[in-house]
Amino acid sequence: MNILIAEDDVIARRILHKMLEKLGHQVIACDNGLKAWEAIQSNAARLVILDWMMPEIDGLSLCRRLREEKLPEYVYVILLTSNDQKSDIVAGLSAGADDYMIKPYNPYELKARIRSGQRVLQLEDDLKSATVQLFHAEKLAALGTLTAGIAHEINTPMQYLQYNTLFLEESFSGIMRLMKTYGKLRERFEAAGGGGPLLEELREQEHRIDLDYIQAEVPRAIRESSEGVEYVTEIVQSMRAFTHPGNRQMAPMDINHALKNTIRITQTQWARVAELQLDLAQDLPHIPCYPGEFNQVILNLIINAAHAIEERLASSPGSGAGVITIQTRKIEEGVEVRLQDNGAGIPDAIRPRVFDPFFTTKEVGRGTGQGLAICRSVIVERLGGRLTFESRMGEGTTFIIRLPLRQDASGASREAV
Ligand SMILES: Nc1ncnc2c1ncn2[C@@H]1O[C@H](COP(=O)(O)OP(=O)(O)OP(=O)(O)O)[C@@H](O)[C@H]1O
Ligand SMILES: [Mg+2]
Repeated sequence: MNILIAEDDVIARRILHKMLEKLGHQVIACDNGLKAWEAIQSNAARLVILDWMMPEIDGLSLCRRLREEKLPEYVYVILLTSNDQKSDIVAGLSAGADDYMIKPYNPYELKARIRSGQRVLQLEDDLKSATVQLFHAEKLAALGTLTAGIAHEINTPMQYLQYNTLFLEESFSGIMRLMKTYGKLRERFEAAGGGGPLLEELREQEHRIDLDYIQAEVPRAIRESSEGVEYVTEIVQSMRAFTHPGNRQMAPMDINHALKNTIRITQTQWARVAELQLDLAQDLPHIPCYPGEFNQVILNLIINAAHAIEERLASSPGSGAGVITIQTRKIEEGVEVRLQDNGAGIPDAIRPRVFDPFFTTKEVGRGTGQGLAICRSVIVERLGGRLTFESRMGEGTTFIIRLPLRQDASGASREAV
């Protein structure tokens, strides 16, 4: 792992450097506290060894500063002292150090203390990803219950709207056929010179209600209503499919169908800023998948794409319409989904961190930094696939998901992304 040493004494620094390199670590060495602080801020290492006495900022103050500042990741601190006074050790630990070492160091002790630091950092990482998983599961369960309730409530009235529009359509065309026959009857009466005031009233009423207009427009109004009903029914079905309890089990899944459902229910998120283009392969094999979790991945990627486009349009208005393209294709090991946006792009400096839990560049309320961490955990750990991205500043970003046709015996492979 990367370890940062801050020690002003050249000899002591070199010895420590050598010892750590021998243990297989990459070392970043600084000769004063300020340089060490800058390195810590730029995430150079998660384990740091600080000398107590140093120019610019001493080890104790640096420790305090490090704990006060909200760093994106936990930094494990070992404080070095040449004093074995109990009061010094207590002061160091109270300032936020995790451990201490008394000079001169013993290589075995150093090794043991580094190991214990690595264990703490590992536990810290495990806790973070468990928290994300928990949030995710809770979010999904709450969303599922809510949506299932709403979908059920909407579904019943939608069914009678559907039957009623069909009934109106059929009845109206029957009435129109009848009206035609009446029309013929009236023509006969008129030709025979009969009918009198009744015929006159009939003609006047036809004129008043504008029968020709009604004949042309009512079928159109009924057709539009039935299209509207069909559209709402499709959305409700997508909502139900999206949150169906069966989605929590692994089952062969039609990726194209799942994508269409998710696109439909996220429409309000992207339609304001982008047009969505689909390029779906028709020969896709069904993939073993947890549908609910896969849908969640696509939802997160679509929302990120819409936000990135919004960001570009806000910083350079008139720089071109937003487009999100979703493409599926069959590849040798399974299926590939590419989700491309022409948004702001991901700056080089943050690329290594976008998948980290709680890493976000968005203001509070707009993003929590969990989206991509969830995506990676679902695609890589749950489905044994790969999740990567390509990005160019100002041009956009493409997220690429590759899902295998078969899961290995453990249910998932742990390929790095
Ligand atoms: N398509 C994209 N284009 C540009 N930047 C992106 C894109 N997707 C993600 N990012 C960057 O990666 C960061 C992390 O994304 P992630 O989805 O994990 O969190 P978020 O979108 O900030 O919050 P959340 O998804 O929890 O609401 C974003 O804040 C953003 O800076
Ligand atoms: Mg997001």
